[in-house]
Amino acid sequence: MTILNKNIFILTGAGISSESGIKTFREKDGLWDNHRIEDVCTPEAFQKDPDKVNNFYNERKVVFNRPEIKPNNGHKALVELERICKKDFLIVTQNIDSLHEKAGSKNLLHMHGSLERLYCMNCGHTIAYDFEIDSSFICSNCKKPGKVRVDVVWFGEQPKHLEQIYKFLEKTEVFISIGTSNNVYPAAGFIDYILSKKEKALLYEFNLEKTIKSVLFTRSFKGYASETLPNFIKLVSNRKYKI
Ligand code: APR
Repeated sequence: MTILNKNIFILTGAGISSESGIKTFREKDGLWDNHRIEDVCTPEAFQKDPDKVNNFYNERKVVFNRPEIKPNNGHKALVELERICKKDFLIVTQNIDSLHEKAGSKNLLHMHGSLERLYCMNCGHTIAYDFEIDSSFICSNCKKPGKVRVDVVWFGEQPKHLEQIYKFLEKTEVFISIGTSNNVYPAAGFIDYILSKKEKALLYEFNLEKTIKSVLFTRSFKGYASETLPNFIKLVSNRKYKI
C-alpha cells in the first residue's frame, strides 16, 4: 500500500521556510523580535498606527525579496509529491511568503494571506505589489487614501479559504504537517477535526522538535524538513515506504 493512492492534505508553517532564510515566529530572535504582536499584527494596531504596521511588513517584504531567499529541498519535495500523487492533493500554508509557488506547487492555499498582494478595506479591491507601502497610498479602484493594507490575516481576523479547506479535510486520507508549532487555531485544530471523523487517516508530522500535538500523529519525523521530507518522498516514490 502506498500513500500515493490517497487524498493528501499538507499543512505547512514557518519551519519549512526557515532553511530558506526566513525566521520562524516563535524561535528566539524570530519574526516577532523587537515587536509585540499587538503592535503590528492586529486590525487595532493598523487603526492606531498604520505606518508602524506598514513598516513592519515593508521590512518583511525586503527580506522575502532577497535573491538568496529561495525555495529549499523541502518545498521542492512537495512539488514532487504533488506530481506523483494519484488522487487529490492540497497544500495549505500558514506562511505569507511565496516559496511554495516559486518552487512550483500548484494546488495551494494561503490561509493567512500573502505578502504578494495589497487589499483595500473600503472596496475590497486587491492588487499585486512590489514596493513600499505607506498610509498615503490611494486605492486605484475607489480612490480612497489610507484604506489599503497588506493582504495578510491578522490576529482576531478570519483565516482565508476555510470552506475549501474543511471540504478537503472531509475527504483527507493522509494529513502531513510540516514545520508548524501547532499554536495557532484553526490550523492547529485540523488534526482534531480529522481524528473526529469515522474514517481513519494517516497523520505524519515533520518538525525539528516535538510539538503540543505530536502525540496525535501516526508518526513524527524529527529533523530538518529540507532533509526529512525529500527522504520520505523518495521512499514513497520508490514504493519503499509501506503503510
Ligand atoms: N524543519 C522542520 N521544522 C522546523 C524547522 C525545520 N528546518 N525549523 C523550525 N521548525 C519548526 C519549529 O520547531 C516550530 O515547531 O517549525 C515550527 C515553527 O513554529 P512557529 O514559529 O510557531 O510558526 P507557525 O507554526 O507557522 O506559526 C503559525 O502563527 O504567528 C502566527 O500567523 C502566524 O502563520 C503563523 C502562525
